[in-house]
Amino acid sequence: MKFETVIIGAGAAGMMCAAQSGPGTLVIDHARAPGEKIRISGGGRCNFTNLHAGPENFLSANPHFCKSALARYTQWDFIDLVNRHRISWHEKTFGQLFCDGKATQIVDMLRAEMTRTGATLWLQTRLADLRHGPDGFTLDLDREGARQTVTCRNLVLASGGKSIPKMGATGLAYDIARRFGLTVTETRPALVPFTFPRGRFAPLAGVSLPVRLSNPRASFDEALLFTHRGLSGPAVLQLSSFWREGEEIHVNLIPGLDLFETLRAARATAGRRALKTELARHLPARLVDFLAPDLKIAGRLADQSDARLRALAGALSDWRLRPSGTEGWRTAEVTLGGVDTNGLSSRTMEAKTVPGLFVIGEAVDVTGWLGGYNFQWAWSSGHAAGAAI
Ligand code: FDA
Repeated sequence: MKFETVIIGAGAAGMMCAAQSGPGTLVIDHARAPGEKIRISGGGRCNFTNLHAGPENFLSANPHFCKSALARYTQWDFIDLVNRHRISWHEKTFGQLFCDGKATQIVDMLRAEMTRTGATLWLQTRLADLRHGPDGFTLDLDREGARQTVTCRNLVLASGGKSIPKMGATGLAYDIARRFGLTVTETRPALVPFTFPRGRFAPLAGVSLPVRLSNPRASFDEALLFTHRGLSGPAVLQLSSFWREGEEIHVNLIPGLDLFETLRAARATAGRRALKTELARHLPARLVDFLAPDLKIAGRLADQSDARLRALAGALSDWRLRPSGTEGWRTAEVTLGGVDTNGLSSRTMEAKTVPGLFVIGEAVDVTGWLGGYNFQWAWSSGHAAGAAI
């Protein structure tokens, strides 16, 4: 069968691209359903974009690459689309937009757009072989137990990254890109919890608090969550994209509070109060108990010297921890790195050396922060390729 365009991957980017490229477009996916990551995203409500999305929220070897696509299909364009489909939404925090209802509304919206523009979707379809000649691409596909050959002028790699292999993530886009001479930068799990030697934070599992989490390259003011395996929560997921094995992270447990002055003032007015009790007014009590032996948190406020209070405030505003690793691909929300942007046009996502070959979405070396930015990249890059086709 002959198609103008074949898109490998019916995820966020692939469906958005198909909704633009329309008739003559075939989207294939080995999964049973399209947009599975959309379905489970944002706790089932899909954080589909961010009001403040801009190039500064993305990591890439070339930080300028994402600018063109993001500027030509913005968060406002996607919000318009969502509004046209009468999907109600709300802003949570930090500009993050979520569906009021279910994330599947976004999947249904993209399917409806694909249908409207006449794109075809084949699910449970695997690529068995791929050839390239002067007339374009030939794909041998395994579909419903039968071999089917299709040809196309444009081939779009939209099969995503390596995160959550259990959900069907594969490195197919990277393998095909390499076959065509494109470079793939180092890939790493990102937006992923940190692990610590077994049991280290077990007594704190479930405790969550706002922190400032930083390393020399980045700093995030968001929530931290202690887990049986280590540390999670938005602040941790954010910093994981900037972390390298063996490095320390710095946790300010009392951001925005001058704890020294606060404790001094409390000592003046309530000297008989236990130091632990006073600290538990500013931090979760379980955390204070956990830290007490190491930081020698004991006695009444009146017993603490200025030097002692200063040292305590210093320790709590710069708790240094060294993760043993991350939870890896099993739980990472995204892949850092991917198809090198040097080989792609930032306007169209087409490979500079292989006319008709496009790479979009997470497969490209463009990775967003936590907060709806990764979907915005999928929409913007998918739109750029779809409009060019
Ligand atoms: P995506 O992974 O969506 O799609 C790739 C498609 O290709 C899949 O349908 C897959 O089945 C298919 N495929 C893979 N290999 C194939 C093969 N060999 N043959 C055929 N098909 C193949 N982002 C955000 O902005 N807001 C959020 O709320 C969240 N939440 C979130 C939660 C969780 C748990 C995860 C894992 C991730 C998120 N993300 C997110 C990230 C977001 O899901 C991600 O950035 C986009 O889905 C990337 O879109 P793509 O279309 O590039 O890949």
